[in-house]
Amino acid sequence: MKGMKLGIDFGSYSIKIYAENKGMVIDEPSVAAIDCETQQPIAFGSDAYELSGRCPAEIKVVDVIRNGVISDFVLAEKMLRYYIKKVCGTRVYKPNVLVSLSTNATSFEKKTMLDAITLAGAGRVCLVEGILASAFGCGIETEKIGGRMVLDIGHHITEFAIISMGSIVNSGAIKRGSNDIDKAIEQHLKRDRDILIGPHTLREVKDKIISAIRRDCETALFISGKSNLDEMPISFEITSNEIYPYIDEQISLLVAEINTLLKTVPPELLSDAADHGIYLCGGGSLIFDIAERLEQEINIRCEVVDEPTLAKVNGLGQLINNEKLLENNGYRFIFKDEVRERIRKMNSKNV
Ligand SMILES: Nc1ncnc2c1ncn2[C@@H]1O[C@H](COP(=O)(O)OP(=O)(O)OP(=O)(O)O)[C@@H](O)[C@H]1O
Ligand SMILES: [Mg+2]
Repeated sequence: MKGMKLGIDFGSYSIKIYAENKGMVIDEPSVAAIDCETQQPIAFGSDAYELSGRCPAEIKVVDVIRNGVISDFVLAEKMLRYYIKKVCGTRVYKPNVLVSLSTNATSFEKKTMLDAITLAGAGRVCLVEGILASAFGCGIETEKIGGRMVLDIGHHITEFAIISMGSIVNSGAIKRGSNDIDKAIEQHLKRDRDILIGPHTLREVKDKIISAIRRDCETALFISGKSNLDEMPISFEITSNEIYPYIDEQISLLVAEINTLLKTVPPELLSDAADHGIYLCGGGSLIFDIAERLEQEINIRCEVVDEPTLAKVNGLGQLINNEKLLENNGYRFIFKDEVRERIRKMNSKNV
């Protein structure tokens, strides 16, 4: 079979793949485990993530995507090849792939993604601005006139757009996301308590006790790590009040940058979109009370959509099933050389 369509959201935290007529078929961490001696990958996604913090020194678990773009070309190509094969099996030859990219991706980053996807086995490829897919996945109606605002808080990047009649009229991206909160928690524990924790424990802390507004009722969690002084295992209690100042600081930095982005939106468009509130999605929107905090700080009503981490991949699914919507936004599936030529033309226009 030739020409099956896939939508790929290759994010800094997870890779999600939507297959035509099937729905989302892959949702796994964007990491690879590599053998340090041979530099060859030995596992991808969930299998690699299971090893992180638990593997011998000869194996290293690394991020394949950073700040929304490919950080290691060879690994990215091998990882994409692995997942395309996993989804398509041997029955599908060269699927057509719609892949989302950050609003701020440079033409070099676009070319890198294009090459990686093509080498990994895609036939025709279409690169779309990811926030457009997020907007459709959030349920923003394509035929509505007047702006609707969407904010996708990811792991490394936060993207923003105002959509009108199914197209982006204003967009921007910030190199900040939920990962800044991970780093703040790790740093606090290391600096103030001489404790090191692994990625799985950090995930538990994030899921269970962090919040964007100080909680009325303090919550506590018993977790394990190791002492940074004598390297011995240690079990300890961590509370929501203890880590709140570090979360608060990171959210304030994010809010300041969101405000800077909002200042670039023309007044008419902003007030129109503000009337309908902001659709929040991405894993960062799962931070407890984030919508309330943003509402307080930017004075616009915010609502976290259903299944916020799946908004972008579901939006890609809508786009692969509706080529008219893609075409209305100037996108279509094309072969690699044609995409390259378009990127080159876009580049020369920007100079
Ligand atoms: N329940 C939760 N509470 C707090 N944070 C969460 C929760 N669930 C997931 N996250 C965080 O959301 C982030 C992942 O979000 P998402 O899947 O949108 O990222 P991504 O799209 O891969 O990254 P990016 O868009 O930056 O390239 C991670 O930092 C993860 O820890
Ligand atoms: Mg994302």
